[in-house]
Amino acid sequence: MTPANARGPAAVITAVGSALPPHVISNDDLAGRLDTTDEWIRSRTGITRRHIAGTDESTADLAVRAGFQALTNGEPHDVDALVVATTTPDRCCPATAPAVATRLGLTGVPAHDLAAGCTGFLYALATAAGLIAARTARTVLVVGADRLASLPHPGDRTTVPLFGDGAGAILLRTGNTREAGALGPVVLGSDGTAADLIRASRPGALHMDGSDVFRQAVNRMSTASRQAATATGWDLEDIDRLVPHQANHRITSFVARQLGVPQARQLSNVSDVGNTGAASIPLLLAQAAADGRLKPGHRILLTAFGAGLTWGAVTLTWPELTLNRQEPGHDR
Ligand code: COA
Repeated sequence: MTPANARGPAAVITAVGSALPPHVISNDDLAGRLDTTDEWIRSRTGITRRHIAGTDESTADLAVRAGFQALTNGEPHDVDALVVATTTPDRCCPATAPAVATRLGLTGVPAHDLAAGCTGFLYALATAAGLIAARTARTVLVVGADRLASLPHPGDRTTVPLFGDGAGAILLRTGNTREAGALGPVVLGSDGTAADLIRASRPGALHMDGSDVFRQAVNRMSTASRQAATATGWDLEDIDRLVPHQANHRITSFVARQLGVPQARQLSNVSDVGNTGAASIPLLLAQAAADGRLKPGHRILLTAFGAGLTWGAVTLTWPELTLNRQEPGHDR
């Protein structure tokens, strides 16, 4: 458990952005080429479609689109640092973030990648909060971007239906802990003894032990959520919106049930995008803020779980944000 921003200035959310590739693949499309059905996928995962990046859309491209939208939506702050959470960087070396920074007009700022599986975005929030608390930066752009659909073997019916591609971004600025938008203590953890449960030595070679991952995901996210609520001084019934990593609908429903959070207070987009890895939480926040499911003043709890194993959770009160300034030429 890491109270990353317990001391020093708080990190406050000031803008969100998101990006999805335009190409959509439905369950019926998958059933045409894999031994599966729409009914099987929907009943086991809640997923009906996912956005898939073309060969001409890199992780950096998605990150730039989401980051650009957050910067456009934000107040005109100078951005001092960039963190890109991803499990699917375009290259082993160099990292994705410096190129993303340059394409966003941020050449010269500290920029690095962070790999923590589907928990990457929460690790990146903690890192950004640490940069702000250390006074290394006053404003940090945090992007979660993944092309997870590139990881399964194209013929593996047990993993292909689960994953989609996308990116989400959040702009954090220096503020104080009492402001709406201030991150609470960030709870993080990992367990390398279970590293083999989700592993990929290269794209097209994902291995996942589905039922063990399911159990671990439910337990780790439930425990981390309780720890984050306690560290903030909240009771679980104080939570207006639970924002779990969108692994699949059954996992997130179990987490909500274990925490006693009614389904109506749980945000979800897994039906339309699948599991988008480090993009999952910021993408959902951006969509829910835009369509009104998330409103200023809502007390929200973010929680995630992923390969590593890794997990985490953090609370905040949703702030008033400027929204819907879209990048030209894209739907989202
Ligand atoms: N279509 C049809 N049948 C399928 C299938 C598909 N897409 N995928 C698997 N099956 C079959 C299996 O081959 C198996 O058949 P068998 O009994 O003849 O061997 C059967 O369905 C049951 O497989 P099982 O793996 O036990 O299914 P499940 O109910 O556990 O559901 C998952 C599988 C993957 C949906 C579930 O384990 C899960 O959600 N795991 C977590 C995955 C995840 O979210 N990972 C990322 C975490 S960040």
